Amino acid sequence: MLLPRPTTLSIGEGEFELTRIARITAPAELAGAASWLQGALRPATGFPLEMGPDGGIELEWNPQLAPEGYTLDVTPEGVHIAGGGPAGVFYGCQSLLQLLPPQIYRKGRVLDVPWVVPVVSIQDAPRFGWRGIMLDVARHFMPKHDIMRFIDLMAMHRLNTLHLHLTDDQGWRVEIKRYPKLTEVGSWRRESQLGAASYSRGDSRPHGGFYTQDDLREIVSYAMDRAINVVPEIESPGHTQAAIAAYPELGLAREESDPLGVWTRWGMDDNVINLEESTVEFFTNVLDEVIEVFPSPFIGIGGDECPKNGWLLDERTQQRKAELGLSTEDELQAWFIRRLDDHLSRRGRRLYGWDEILEGGLAGSVSQGATVASWRGMTGAIAAARAGHDVVACPDDQAYLDYRQSDRSDEPIPVGTVLTIADAYRFDPVPAELDSEDAHHVLGGQGNIWTEHMDSPRTVDYFAFPRMCALAEALWLDGERDYDEFAGRLDQHLTRLDALGVEYRRSSGPLPWQQRPGVTGRPVTPQQRAAYFAPLTARIADSESRVAATTGQTAAVAETSRSSLTDFGIDTSL
Ligand code: ACM
Repeated sequence: MLLPRPTTLSIGEGEFELTRIARITAPAELAGAASWLQGALRPATGFPLEMGPDGGIELEWNPQLAPEGYTLDVTPEGVHIAGGGPAGVFYGCQSLLQLLPPQIYRKGRVLDVPWVVPVVSIQDAPRFGWRGIMLDVARHFMPKHDIMRFIDLMAMHRLNTLHLHLTDDQGWRVEIKRYPKLTEVGSWRRESQLGAASYSRGDSRPHGGFYTQDDLREIVSYAMDRAINVVPEIESPGHTQAAIAAYPELGLAREESDPLGVWTRWGMDDNVINLEESTVEFFTNVLDEVIEVFPSPFIGIGGDECPKNGWLLDERTQQRKAELGLSTEDELQAWFIRRLDDHLSRRGRRLYGWDEILEGGLAGSVSQGATVASWRGMTGAIAAARAGHDVVACPDDQAYLDYRQSDRSDEPIPVGTVLTIADAYRFDPVPAELDSEDAHHVLGGQGNIWTEHMDSPRTVDYFAFPRMCALAEALWLDGERDYDEFAGRLDQHLTRLDALGVEYRRSSGPLPWQQRPGVTGRPVTPQQRAAYFAPLTARIADSESRVAATTGQTAAVAETSRSSLTDFGIDTSL
């Protein structure tokens, strides 16, 4: 019935019918949840649902419950929702919506539907405190209207963290008042690579967009009203070409006659930032503005996939490395990340970075508060938790919602390994290798939606759903999971997504207009994936092999930069 499944749910006899005379009763401190519920119930029912005493729907705060926990009791007389905090009450309201007929999700008045809720008693609380989705709005911009729709869909699934990937080689999407060219120049590109092959052509169509700081404040506030924290991410030191296009002084030396533009290709890019003091200052200044907009305790700094070839070949960077007393390029990266880490720590925020922030050959290269997003399988999660860092698990083979959904040839622009709904449902953020003490460092998990090949919110719908439903339950449910049972509930749940107009992937495969005939992807096998990750994960997992790896670094670095996540060692010379 409900999705995610609640901890306990017992069904009784009878039902409650919501009618025109119903009111919502709530104390002042729950006015936010009450007004959200009113706004959610009004369009389809057409009922006024004013606030007032003895109203039929009662919201209450119960400090005995966990902050995100709630109870929901329906009797023939009314609905009673109690939460341990505003988030818990909000989730109770979300569950109430799911107990109503799916037409409740329609935005216009629906006639002839009895708005009945079965008599039930629910007790519920989540397993993890970080139930997230990373949305890449850098590769393809998502208008703020669609971000807010996406936030609504997250909230419906009781997801509570939106990690916004705001900058990358192909676009800079956040207004920074001190550096206006970041958006004037960096927020659009001439064209986009159409497909995932090295030979894929460009589409000859400019792409761009950015959020003003006011837009982002609006998004943060909208999310907060739905119990969602927005974690911003400003990438560096790799994936920075859009910033360098705007401010060439951030980049490595190049001929003036050959300026860098915002990148129009996908993959990993050797054009990374230099490591001058002025560049550190640039990024810390950017972070200072970002901190003003985002109250999140966690601030993302990226740190992934930084090819080191540019640094190896750049005379000035080699000089800089010597000045800093560092011996390897991995140490240079660690030094840069540490500078950002120190800066954020001084401002009372916690650095959030991809698992590459564990590399670098320096013991304790990030502060204890730094939190690691483990994406290359679970190796980063194990290493980080054992080293005392908090971890968010997002292993690519279970949580990358841009990976292909089947091995059918009509999947649109297929990349990565096959990741089915069942794979997402099996996701467990806590690696079996961790003892119970280290396991406490696992804050939860997140699904990642990289949008190189998703050029519209419609396509994001196709990739995100219904896998996001499965992931949401995997992160919420504290108890046994039964996929067959889930699949039955999902069928019901899809009628809710239909009412909302979500263009999810049908179990029968992509609809004709969801296909991309003739656009080449880059599917890989699990064996190719394992071969690609093996040397990298070893570098994280074992400090001895990390030292060995940095010794033979030049070769390893060159190898890494030729590949990218979607390459996985497949012949790119095609
Ligand atoms: C990543 O997928 N490069 C974090």
